Amino acid sequence: MQYWKKLTKSEIKSRVDYALAKNINYQERTILGIPASHLDENVFNMDPSFLNNAPFLKAMTDNPNHIGCHTMGESEPFFAGTQKLEKELIGIVAEDILKCEPNQYDGYVASGGTEANIQAIWIYRNQFRKQFDASYGEICILCSEDSHYSMPKAGNILDLDVFYVPVTDDTREITGQSVEKTIQEAKTQGKRYFIVVANMMTTMFGSVDCVETYTKALRKTDLKFRLHVDGAYGGFVYPFSTDNDEMTFLNPDISSVTLDAHKMVQAPFGTGIFVARKGLIDNVFTDEAQYVSGLDATLIGSRSGANAIAVWMILQTYGPHDWFEKIHILNYRTNWLCNQLEDLNIEFYRHPSSNIVAIRAKHIPPELAHKYGLVPDTHNESPSWYKIVLMEHVHVDHLLPFVEELREKL
Ligand SMILES: Cc1ncc(COP(=O)(O)O)c(C=O)c1O
Repeated sequence: MQYWKKLTKSEIKSRVDYALAKNINYQERTILGIPASHLDENVFNMDPSFLNNAPFLKAMTDNPNHIGCHTMGESEPFFAGTQKLEKELIGIVAEDILKCEPNQYDGYVASGGTEANIQAIWIYRNQFRKQFDASYGEICILCSEDSHYSMPKAGNILDLDVFYVPVTDDTREITGQSVEKTIQEAKTQGKRYFIVVANMMTTMFGSVDCVETYTKALRKTDLKFRLHVDGAYGGFVYPFSTDNDEMTFLNPDISSVTLDAHKMVQAPFGTGIFVARKGLIDNVFTDEAQYVSGLDATLIGSRSGANAIAVWMILQTYGPHDWFEKIHILNYRTNWLCNQLEDLNIEFYRHPSSNIVAIRAKHIPPELAHKYGLVPDTHNESPSWYKIVLMEHVHVDHLLPFVEELREKL
């Protein structure tokens, strides 16, 4: 572990205080040129006795702007203190969780998983255009039919077609055959450059794509590809619940990964994380961002530094071992639920490393789904699946009444 160590509350507080003190202080220095300030003290409680023991709230009221990407070159000097904490956070994610070589990555805290996925696809689209003079029509996105809707959103924004690989109905897996068939279809439509997005736990099922199934099929052809991992849901789960390193940077085929801290990490919304191998992000530098020190290689532009601090604080509070335990407790609860469903002969899907259980909708009366807040795969009249996500607040004691009512209904 390079960066990630469990810290005490007072260590965390003093690190955040130190970082904030290295940022610009609008009260103490006259700053005339930036369109930013601390939060409005007529509205927000800035009382030091309230903020002194609340480092995240202090960061919110100081309101640092983390515009740009801080793992490379220059950044806005006004917020250098807290940008350094963000850089450390990206280090934890890239090196300690995703096993990248030291400093061989770039990354930033994005608005969410959607932005991080679009950022990746934007990078590879531009790279194919620069390196191979590819036309938009020759580049496409390849992903499974269970992928998140950020892939068609990216296709729409970036003017790229999306090709979906069908998955098997019960195991939610892509197969060699389905990947090869989809590639052939794309090829006949003139696609030569493939941006593959592999799922590290899908939104609805928690299923995990086999990366090698994509790479094997693509290597049988003369097509060029880049591979991004969508771990928006699974990025803080799967690396702790499996020994399989296929989706980490130890796999040379993986170029970038999305993670979301505002899902399993319980960070505030606005904490997607994008990490890519060093240098790739240079493909999306906006040279026209001349007023930003160090230019800007992110999709978002201005963004709250408090968000990065929140994620850094959470991960430092747990440290790697407590985080591992937390994920395993959730998996224990998931096992409990799956055992109950098996006893009731109810069909469900669950990836062995995941804390999501998708139950065939035919077993679940809609009023029960409504009562317990189960989420359907579609909000039209006939969903095929309902999912249960074993989050921190979902204990066996909460699952028990659901299972009992289900047993009665059956
Ligand atoms: C697998 C996956 N990818 C991407 C996203 C998009 O994340 P966000 O809602 O943070 O933009 C989600 C959200 O549920 C997801 O589950």
